[in-house]
Amino acid sequence: MKKLIESVVLASNLSKTLIYSLEYRMLYGLSKSLSYFVEPPTRERNPELLRHLGEGVVALHRQDGRNVAEGIYPFDVVKPRDFRGHLGNLPLLFTDSLKISRRRRLNLKRDFESEPENVPDYLKRNYHFQTDGYFSAESARLYEHQVEVLFSGTAAPMRRMLIKLLKDKFTLTRPLRILELGAGTGAATSDFAKSFRVLSYTVSDVSEDYLKLARMRTPNGPFDFVQGPAEALPFADASFDLVFSVFLFHELPRSVREEVLRETFRVLAPGGIIGICDSIQRDDDPKLNIVLETFPKDYHEPFYKDYTLWDASSALKHTGFSEVSSNHQLLSKYWVGRKP
Ligand SMILES: C[S@@+](CC[C@H](N)C(=O)[O-])C[C@H]1O[C@@H](n2cnc3c(N)ncnc32)[C@H](O)[C@@H]1O
Repeated sequence: MKKLIESVVLASNLSKTLIYSLEYRMLYGLSKSLSYFVEPPTRERNPELLRHLGEGVVALHRQDGRNVAEGIYPFDVVKPRDFRGHLGNLPLLFTDSLKISRRRRLNLKRDFESEPENVPDYLKRNYHFQTDGYFSAESARLYEHQVEVLFSGTAAPMRRMLIKLLKDKFTLTRPLRILELGAGTGAATSDFAKSFRVLSYTVSDVSEDYLKLARMRTPNGPFDFVQGPAEALPFADASFDLVFSVFLFHELPRSVREEVLRETFRVLAPGGIIGICDSIQRDDDPKLNIVLETFPKDYHEPFYKDYTLWDASSALKHTGFSEVSSNHQLLSKYWVGRKP
């Protein structure tokens, strides 16, 4: 039975990879055909690198299948969602890809009709050169689709690998008070909620528009939505058992990353657990260093290079966390630790 589950998950994940890779090729082809006006992203043509990435994608999807078969998370998390929404996004994705390529060509990093208010200054920018940065309903609608196109349909399984590391390292069987930081549109939220026993689940992000979509997608359940920056959390000391984030830390200046660690430590109860999923870093997989160099230029990520050199394990220990451990898979890296 386990083998069957693993094969079904592998087939389902590979078909998603095929669809998103085709969409990437179409979007890339569009920018390329108009490259007199706009700048397509860098396209790696090194066959050895592509083979290495391809093997990594298959290994990730296989691990996702093993995780489902072993009950780390339920089969439900790999089911395809919202096929009609996916199709409906495509025309918007095409037009937005040209706007993104235009910003890339003109190096427009703060291209807003009206600047976002009540957010830290370092965030007032078009991350990924995306329209409105993280601050509009339109950007929220396209965000997850754009990320999956960028990662060829591997973003969701990469997020889920944090659940595996958390369960491998800690006993998390009692009902938990969970806080998710930088949750965005809730891409990881329902997968995490289905994988743990949840007493309460606070979903937080600095973007009101992203959080609105996260709320719409998870209308039922123990969820609570709180807008605000992760470096200044409006929660009492010791109020959570698990605090985690996905793809948040590489967006932050180093000093803010360390403030977020301190805030996380403060709001965790003694014995509470931190989990982080983010990009791999320099030399985690030397063959992929080239990808870490082109990504922040193509997708306007001003703090990414510094992030790839940041010693997160030392920062966690320096903040006070113990039992810190880390691993990485494909393009993502994971850290967990405990507040003593
Ligand atoms: C790359 S997205 C990741 C979203 C989601 N976790 C995912 O897995 O797709 C980064 C998210 O972090 C949020 N963010 C950026 N800086 C933040 C901060 N200082 N505090 C809280 N959220 C922040 C953004 O609004 C955005 O939703």
